[in-house]
Amino acid sequence: MRGFLIIGNNAVGKPFNLNDLPGNGRMDILCRFVAQSLFISHGIRRDVEVYLLLLGNPNDPKTIKISGRYVRGMRPDERSIGGLINKALRIRYTDGWVMSTPGIFVSRKDLSDLLKDICKEKKYNTIAYLREDGKDIRDFIKKEKNDILFITGDHLGLNDDNEKIVLNNTENIVAIPTLSLQADQCIVIINYELDLLEKNAI
Ligand SMILES: C[S@@+](CC[C@H](N)C(=O)[O-])C[C@H]1O[C@@H](n2cnc3c(N)ncnc32)[C@H](O)[C@@H]1O
Repeated sequence: MRGFLIIGNNAVGKPFNLNDLPGNGRMDILCRFVAQSLFISHGIRRDVEVYLLLLGNPNDPKTIKISGRYVRGMRPDERSIGGLINKALRIRYTDGWVMSTPGIFVSRKDLSDLLKDICKEKKYNTIAYLREDGKDIRDFIKKEKNDILFITGDHLGLNDDNEKIVLNNTENIVAIPTLSLQADQCIVIINYELDLLEKNAI
């Protein structure tokens, strides 16, 4: 199992205009994040789960979960992904997960509740917080192998409060040397490293 979570500091939690993904709290970043987490050539990684934390307008956090195992009807372009997120934001949401379309769920969970739930489910052995000054991710992945939830920021990174919540749940701060990248670029590299490990190639 691979899990990828992105904190969308300004990402809107209400239906938005698909012609203006960047103007809706940088929803374009989140859509690219989903694409790079899930898609391979002519296929979807069925062992991946993606979490999008939407902290923008309106001011009540929402989380979207996309399960690679169950998702259907999604294409890798930002507009298609944005359209499915939009559908999820149209339904009435609760503290639990409510499915909007196959494999896509929405909930009222904030970061703290989300991490609590994920830890309770015991789906992941460990959590890794991606930050440029962390320890080398390759060593970390080689040691932990699989069932890791990776957490990244959007263009704004993580604010102090959210970083504190993350660090209450993990001590693992990991970095991809040597440049500061975009969140979706980090995911491409992590998927590559995990793919190599699965094939015993590193
Ligand atoms: C565009 S960067 C955020 C840059 C933002 N200005 C900041 O200072 O946090 C988006 C996210 O990708 C992750 N990231 C980017 N480059 C990374 C690297 N080299 N190693 C680990 N994580 C990285 C971090 O989680 C970061 O919050």
